Amino acid sequence: MQGALTNRAFLRRAVRYLARSGVTQFLDLGTGLPAAGAVDEIAQQVTPGARVIYVDHDPVVLAHARALLSRDPRTVTVAADLRDPASVLGEATIQAHLDLRRPVAVLFVAVLHFLTAAEDPGGIVRAFREVLAPGSYVAITHLADVDSDVQARRAATTRRAVRVYEEMAAPLVLRTPEQIHSLFDRLDLIEPGLVPVHRWRPGHGSRSEVPVPVLAGLAQRT
Ligand SMILES: C[S@@+](CC[C@H](N)C(=O)[O-])C[C@H]1O[C@@H](n2cnc3c(N)ncnc32)[C@H](O)[C@@H]1O
Repeated sequence: MQGALTNRAFLRRAVRYLARSGVTQFLDLGTGLPAAGAVDEIAQQVTPGARVIYVDHDPVVLAHARALLSRDPRTVTVAADLRDPASVLGEATIQAHLDLRRPVAVLFVAVLHFLTAAEDPGGIVRAFREVLAPGSYVAITHLADVDSDVQARRAATTRRAVRVYEEMAAPLVLRTPEQIHSLFDRLDLIEPGLVPVHRWRPGHGSRSEVPVPVLAGLAQRT
């Protein structure tokens, strides 16, 4: 639970940073259940005209998202599987809402650890990166396989979570910091780089966040 809250807090900080940097289009892959401070809310606080596309493949998530998220026409929710970038990008609503000639922020927040090595998360990030205009961004948070003393207790909790997930349909795949770093191939990580999620540009409201074994980074296509 703490991990989800800390991760969401990163998402809000990153979207605020991106909107303030002039990004007006957001593609949120693996949206999850709607929560306060959703991407459209934060982005449109900064830039009222910002467009947000939410993508998920879970029908329950999609039903909640459609019921609860903004009814603003600049915010849309699409059923698609991010493991198939061509079909996501070819989807009619996405084609109508996304102008790939201008910068887009693609958000892979707490989703790539649901993909196995065979599903090639690096290749998926690359496929999205290749269609992005210069000045676009990619944000990733990912459960990390960390063994430092500080993180060990939480890592043990994470491994228990992994076992629970393995008994369910969705596997949860921990990756090393090096493996997570490689997901940003040919992208420029902005400061502070790939760091524990609570350390990514913490703001005033971040003090209560406790360390969780999740790494976060935001990178730009130049
Ligand atoms: C842990 S939630 C993260 C939600 C949100 N990004 C956040 O950080 O709070 C992961 C979401 O990714 C979605 N998801 C997992 N695999 C997916 C896939 N292959 N295509 C689209 N969505 C996927 C799940 O349905 C779930 O809603």
